[in-house]
Amino acid sequence: MNFQTIFNNKSPEVEALAPGRVNLLGEHTDYNDGFVLPTAIPQKTAVQIGFSDDGLYHFYSEDLNERVDIGEDGFRTGSMPTLQSQFASYIFGCIQVLKQLGYTILPFNLYIKSSVPMGSGLSSSAALEVATLRGIRQLFNLPINDVEIAQFAQQAEINYAHVQCGIMDQMASSLADTKHMLFLDTRTLERRVLPLPRGASILVIDSGVPRTLAGSGYNQRRAECEEAAQILGVKALRDVTDVSRVETLPEPLRKRARHVVTENNRVLEAIQIVETQDETRHVSSLQKFGELMNASHASLRDDYEVSVPALDILVDILQKTPGVFGARLTGAGFGGATVALVAQGEESNIATKVLEKYNNYGHTGNLLVGG
Ligand code: GLA
Repeated sequence: MNFQTIFNNKSPEVEALAPGRVNLLGEHTDYNDGFVLPTAIPQKTAVQIGFSDDGLYHFYSEDLNERVDIGEDGFRTGSMPTLQSQFASYIFGCIQVLKQLGYTILPFNLYIKSSVPMGSGLSSSAALEVATLRGIRQLFNLPINDVEIAQFAQQAEINYAHVQCGIMDQMASSLADTKHMLFLDTRTLERRVLPLPRGASILVIDSGVPRTLAGSGYNQRRAECEEAAQILGVKALRDVTDVSRVETLPEPLRKRARHVVTENNRVLEAIQIVETQDETRHVSSLQKFGELMNASHASLRDDYEVSVPALDILVDILQKTPGVFGARLTGAGFGGATVALVAQGEESNIATKVLEKYNNYGHTGNLLVGG
């Protein structure tokens, strides 16, 4: 299949790409105005777009082998998106956000092909939104910058795909690359691009456990954080830096807030480590960075309660494997993938050993990045 076969032999006018992301530290901090540290992964989503001549928008996903046809004002009868064709709501959301800003977005045909794994916590939805907005920007020559692309993508996801997400994924997809980490203050959107820790590589392994409950659990955690901030009299949990302040909160708010406060502090510590890393001390820097990742996992498991047994097993195996500096779950949790910082050149060896042990527990892990 390709654009021409799906869309009556017409050729696309433009093509755009956007990567998925993996977050190294700073989980569940972005909707608390906090700090995050993602990097782009090599897997990308590609969209091709060309004008449509029947007054309708047509979206086709090669990976889902699914087509959705949409009128100017919404989904046509008969093509209401099912859970599977959720993909169409991300694209439709992007179009709507732009239209509400006053841009004229004439109907188009859009063809998607993606290598970003879906449902692993690697932001396949942000990659689709950002690629779509990049393609539309090019097709209609819109004067929008990369930060606005991330912001519009987030609005599309919140208002049309109904996920109350923060802005990390869209900023990472729009601004990060695979060689650097994007240190982002999600309140001010101030950011710094930093090299990945010297001497280390990133290994991403999927647990094979789908992210059930991710939507409801995510929105519930978000509401708990907002309640905790309100009780503490701050705008957002980002404004609490001294962790002892959360001790007066009732459970589970105390635990949730403790995760957010300590996680923000871990990101700031990691930045310090990377910025002061030098030739002579680089192994100890990697170990310190890894310890922060391990502590992040424990906090996500015990305080934020977004891990699942399979992720805990996989992370435990990773943490005990020589050559691994640190490991944790990545993304929203409730299933999905793990991220580990490992010695450069050891990726394949480590992945093979870890997967062998993990699969003995009756799971099917999958190496997604590294090796
Ligand atoms: C999802 C959301 C992000 C962020 C992470 C958790 O990926 O889309 O905004 O909240 O979960 O860190």
